[in-house]
Amino acid sequence: MAVLVGDLDLPEFDISEAGLTGEVYHERLAEVGARGWLARSPIAYVVLDRESGEFFLRARQTAFPGREIAGLFGITGGRLAEQIDANILNLTGDRHRRLRALVGPAFTPRAAARWRPAMRQIAEELWAGLGGGCECEFVSWFAGPFPARTIAEVIGAPQADAGALQEWSGWVQRQFDIRALAEQPERIERAVCELYDYVADLLARRRAEPADDLISALLAAEAEGERLSAGECVNLVLNVLAGGVDTTTAQLAHALRLFAAHPDQWESLGQRPDLVPGAVDEVLRFEPITPFTARICTEQIVHRDVIFPAGTIVAICAERANRQAAAGEDFDIAAERAGDRVLTFGAGAHFCLGQNLARAELEEAIGFLAPRLAGLRAAGPARLGGVEGIYGIESLPLAWGSASPRAGA
Ligand code: HEM
Repeated sequence: MAVLVGDLDLPEFDISEAGLTGEVYHERLAEVGARGWLARSPIAYVVLDRESGEFFLRARQTAFPGREIAGLFGITGGRLAEQIDANILNLTGDRHRRLRALVGPAFTPRAAARWRPAMRQIAEELWAGLGGGCECEFVSWFAGPFPARTIAEVIGAPQADAGALQEWSGWVQRQFDIRALAEQPERIERAVCELYDYVADLLARRRAEPADDLISALLAAEAEGERLSAGECVNLVLNVLAGGVDTTTAQLAHALRLFAAHPDQWESLGQRPDLVPGAVDEVLRFEPITPFTARICTEQIVHRDVIFPAGTIVAICAERANRQAAAGEDFDIAAERAGDRVLTFGAGAHFCLGQNLARAELEEAIGFLAPRLAGLRAAGPARLGGVEGIYGIESLPLAWGSASPRAGA
C-alpha cells in the first residue's frame, strides 16, 4: 500500500546547513544514506540512491524546478526571471528536444577534441606565467583561467575577455544556488544583464564576420531554414558560458585537492599519461561538483510505494549515488569501476550538454600538470565552498617539488 511522502518518518538533512562542506558533508551524507534512500530537507526530499535518482531524472512527469525555486525567492520579473524561463534546463518536451538536436553536433566527443590543441596552448601559457615557482594558489592561477580561456576560444570571444566571462559565469550559475538566490538576487540579475548584452554583441559581430567557432555554427544553423531564433541563439550561448566555466573550474580544483591528498596516485599519473582518462572518471565520481540536482513532480508520482504529489521537489544526490558500488568511499584511480554509472553529469533528457568538453578539459589539464607538479602537496588549508549549488573551492594553496613547501615561492 503506497504511503504519502509527507507521512513518512524520514531523517532530516538540510542541504544549505551552515558549515556543510568537506569531510563533514560526506560524513553527514553517509550517515543519512545508511538510514534509507530518502531524507527530508527544508525545500526538497533528498533522494540518496542511484536507482531512484535516475528514476526521477528520467521521469517524464518531472521537470527542472528553476522557475518554482526562483518564485520562492520572489524572482518573478526582470531579466533574471526571463533568463530562467529561457534556460535550456527549464525547457521541456518538443522545445527542449529541438534545441538539443540543433546544438548536439557541436558537443560530440569529436567536436570537443578539436579544441584540445587550444587547451594545451592555454595550459602552456598559464604554466609560463608561473615563472618557475613551485607554490601557487591553484584556483586563481589555473583552475579559474583555464576553463574561462577555453570557453572563450570555443565561442570565438577574445581571450582578453576570459576574466570577465569567468566572473559572469560564477554569478549567473548562482541562480541554481538557493542561498545566493535568497541573499544576492540583484548581483545575479546584474551579471545576467551584462552577459546578455555581451553575447548579443558577440553574435552581431559573428553575423557580420563568421568564423570557425560555436557561435558561427549556431548562427549557420539559424540561417539554414529558420531553425534557431535569434533569442534561442543568445540564450544557448549564455547557457554554455554560464554552465561551462564555473563547473569545470570547481571540478579541476577538487581534482588537484584530491591528488595532493593522494600523492602516490598523482605520481603514477605523471609517469603514465594513459591513466589520465580513468583518473578523470574517478574524480568525477568521487567528488561531483553538482552534488544535488533538483526536479519537481509535474504530476503525482508513485515510486517504491511512496506517493510524491504534483509540486513535490526532490534533490537527487549524485554524491551518494556515485559511491554506492563496492569500495565506493575509496578514491582510487586504478579501481575497476566499469559499468558503475555516475550521476555527476545528470541523466536523461538534460544530461550535461558540455560533458565531452568538460572531460577533454580535465584530461588536458591533469595530463599537463601531473608530470610538472611532481611532489604535489597542500601548502595550507583549502577554503571550500558550500554544496547547495556548484560545490567549488575558493582557494587551494599547493606546493610541489622536493624542497620544503615555502621554498621557491
Ligand atoms: C565538470 C564539469 C561539469 C559538470 C559536473 C556539469 C554538470 C551538469 C549537470 C548535472 C547537468 C544536468 C542538470 C539537470 O539535469 O538538472 C548539466 C547540464 C548542462 N550542462 Fe553541464 N556540467 C559541466 C560542464 C559543462 C560545460 C563545460 C558546459 C558547456 C560547454 C555545460 C553545459 C551544460 C548545459 C547547457 C546543460 C543543460 C542541458 C539541458 O538542459 O539539456 N556543462 N551539467
